[in-house]
Amino acid sequence: MAIETGDTLPEANFTMLGDSGPTSVPLADKTKGRKIVIFAVPGAFTPTCHSAHVPSFIRTKDQFAANGVDEIICVSVNDPFIMKTWGEASGATEAGITMLADADSSFTKAVGMEFSAPPVGFFNRSKRYAMVVDDGKVTALNVEPDTGCSVSAGEGLLEEM
Ligand code: BEZ
Repeated sequence: MAIETGDTLPEANFTMLGDSGPTSVPLADKTKGRKIVIFAVPGAFTPTCHSAHVPSFIRTKDQFAANGVDEIICVSVNDPFIMKTWGEASGATEAGITMLADADSSFTKAVGMEFSAPPVGFFNRSKRYAMVVDDGKVTALNVEPDTGCSVSAGEGLLEEM
């Protein structure tokens, strides 16, 4: 079942490429006592993810900060190497957006957001969505009905705050 507003996020571990290689990033370290935004994409470097979704959060990051958001995190079912490269290529890392890999899709499955698109080679990826999480609890959630980027864009999520 898909996660809903008012639910608490499950325990999860992401992977991030640090200076000495891939490191595990417990979700609890990001959520405990903090307000964060998580936006999830079907894949690194896909046209909409790269040209619309990430740029929308680069554009709006200051407005989220003004609304008390401590960190904006991009999640994709990809490996940490590609997430690091994508963060650099898209400008997300320079903008302060954290790029986390849900490499085994365990977080995506736990929140009920699995998405497959066999014609483009996507299996067990993530739907496109964005959420505000306050101390582990989902306080706003916008899920796209398709692969487009509208309600889950930075501007769309800001309307929920
Ligand atoms: C895109 O981001 O453009 C996209 C994502 C998933 C499937 C097809 C396209």
